[in-house]
Amino acid sequence: MPDQWQQYIHTWVEKDELLQATLSQPRRKDGSIASKTIVRAVLLKNVLHFQFEYHVDNKVLHENVDKSLTSSKLVSLIEENYRQVLFKTRQEEVQLLLSKKGKAAMRSQKAAGKVQQTDLQHNRQKQRVLEEGTAVPFLVELGIMAPDGTVRAKKQDKYRQINRFLEMVSDILPALPADRPLTIVDFGCGKSYLTFALYHLLAVQQGREISIIGLDLKADVIAFCSELARKLGYDKLKFLVGDIADYEELQCADMVVTLHACDTATDAALAKAVRWGASVIMSVPCCQHELFRQIENEALSPLLSHGLLKERFSALATDAARGQLLEVAGYKVQMLEFIDAEHTPKNIMIRATRSQRQGKASAQWQEYLRYKELLHITPALEKMLFEDVKSEMDE
Ligand SMILES: C[S@@+](CC[C@H](N)C(=O)[O-])C[C@H]1O[C@@H](n2cnc3c(N)ncnc32)[C@H](O)[C@@H]1O
Repeated sequence: MPDQWQQYIHTWVEKDELLQATLSQPRRKDGSIASKTIVRAVLLKNVLHFQFEYHVDNKVLHENVDKSLTSSKLVSLIEENYRQVLFKTRQEEVQLLLSKKGKAAMRSQKAAGKVQQTDLQHNRQKQRVLEEGTAVPFLVELGIMAPDGTVRAKKQDKYRQINRFLEMVSDILPALPADRPLTIVDFGCGKSYLTFALYHLLAVQQGREISIIGLDLKADVIAFCSELARKLGYDKLKFLVGDIADYEELQCADMVVTLHACDTATDAALAKAVRWGASVIMSVPCCQHELFRQIENEALSPLLSHGLLKERFSALATDAARGQLLEVAGYKVQMLEFIDAEHTPKNIMIRATRSQRQGKASAQWQEYLRYKELLHITPALEKMLFEDVKSEMDE
């Protein structure tokens, strides 16, 4: 890569190579410049133009620019206003980072195959969030994609899972605050494929101002993830060693993710999310052992006397209790099917968005009480969320 990133832009536009540029991290945050600008190649009456999409406050403004004027306009927009750009060209994905003093760093990954002309049409087919054929730096580093953008045969499941997760995130973006930087926590992040994916979607692709914290008990895994974040230039992605239950560093968060955190670690994460007033919670529980030891109901003995059935039933009963308790706490809850690449073929995602409901949720609480009585259970999440206010709730 020569030092002159500007020359690259001129060449890509000149040779019809540039498909998209996402400009983010504005140099000033006083509202004088768009918080993000996306430039896309579009065909208008079959002639190549570039559409500049400016994100200003909560509005999106469009301007169609002639190809001959595009590269100089794009270069000056970047020089004056932005510190991060993600370029998608027909052959590669390139990230440009500019320091406060304008010093540039570029990072490129080659992509396989030519992008079809139809990509330039307005009415595209539904695409995966991370398309095969365009090398995505974090997927390459994690060994899911080869450097040419092809997905490695043994990593197809993981690739599908990451895309499914990002689709599920994309669906709930309107529930997140749009007027300020977002704080996101991933509890029990492990090797963090999905944490990196979340950062890529929100910070790199969409240019949103976010900070993500990944927390896990395993020091070696956290050291690996920290090093990878540094290598990728993901400077707002931090990894910490710690137990979810003891994590006290934040006062609030906008989104809490907890994927396959074991047994009641999921409950500790959900309880924190509720206390922080998180707008969005995405949780895929696993190893729900707690209620297996508690559930009792004579009438259910055909089900509960078989270990395997009892185990499956306990897992569902646990997640039903969690869903109901989140409703009581003021969330709208959906149970969705999630692909789990490593454990079982499929499992359940609890996706909850904070609702505007005011006052007590006494109907949901009464429903919950009948349910827990039926199964003779006292789930950890109930104790974590409502131990102090139970008498109030019963009124
Ligand atoms: C099965 S892995 C899932 C990793 C990742 N979230 C995913 O879905 O690919 C579960 C992770 O949760 C972590 N974990 C379990 N209990 C925890 C706790 N109490 N606090 C922090 N991390 C925990 C484990 O160390 C492990 O890395």
